[in-house]
Amino acid sequence: MQHTLAFDVYGTLIDTNGVILTLQKMVGDKAAEFSRVWREKQLEYSFRRGLMQRYRNFSVCTREELDYTCTILQVDLGNADRNMLMDTYRVLPAFGDVAEALKQLDKPAYRLYAFSNGQTEAVRGLLEHAGILDCFIDIVSVDEVKRFKPDPAVYQHMLKRCGSTPDSTWLISSNPFDILGARSAGVRGIWLQRSATSIFDPWDDLAADATISLLTQLDAAIQNCR
Ligand code: 2OP
Repeated sequence: MQHTLAFDVYGTLIDTNGVILTLQKMVGDKAAEFSRVWREKQLEYSFRRGLMQRYRNFSVCTREELDYTCTILQVDLGNADRNMLMDTYRVLPAFGDVAEALKQLDKPAYRLYAFSNGQTEAVRGLLEHAGILDCFIDIVSVDEVKRFKPDPAVYQHMLKRCGSTPDSTWLISSNPFDILGARSAGVRGIWLQRSATSIFDPWDDLAADATISLLTQLDAAIQNCR
C-alpha cells in the first residue's frame, strides 16, 4: 500500500526560531521571547480568524502579530526593521534532521506533500531556500480554501488534492493542534516532538498514532503503526 505523507511546514520542517539571529541585532536579549510570542500569536490569530470566518492570508496574520509583539514587549522597531523581519521569515532554515529524513523517505511506498497554513508561494520559497523543494510532489496550502488548520475543511481539501484516502494518509507535524485536527478528520497523525519540554494535549478522545523526536524516525514509526 502506498502512503501519502503530508508534512506541516512551520515548526516541523522549517525552524521559526531561525529569526532569532536577526532579532538579536534588533532587540538584544529579548530575541528568544520575541520569537516565541510572535509564533504563539501567529497561531492564535489564525485560530481566531478561523472561528470568526474572517480569513486573511498567513502573511497578513504574521505581519499583524509582529506589530502586536512589538507593542506587548515594548520594542520600538521601525518599518525597515519590521520589513526585514518579514523578509527573514521567507528564508527561515530547515531543521537539521529534515534533509536526511526526506532522503530516507524517497521510495515508492511514499508520496510526499507539504501542507501548510502558509501560502503556496511563501512555502515554495522556504522549501527552495532549504534545498528540499524537489522532495515533494506538491504544496497544499489552506489558502486554497481560505480556512486555517485545524478546520476539518482543510484536511478534507488536503486529501482531495493528494488524491488519497484518510487511512493511507499521514500528517506529520510538531504542532499538537494540527495532529488533533487531522485525527478528528480521520487522517492518521504522527507527532514530531521537536523539544523535550513540548507536550501533547491530553485529550481523551483523540491522540497521535505515534510520537517521534527526530524526523529520521518517521519511516520506522509508520512501519510500526501499520
Ligand atoms: C503550518 O501550517 C501550522 O504553522 C503551521 O505550516
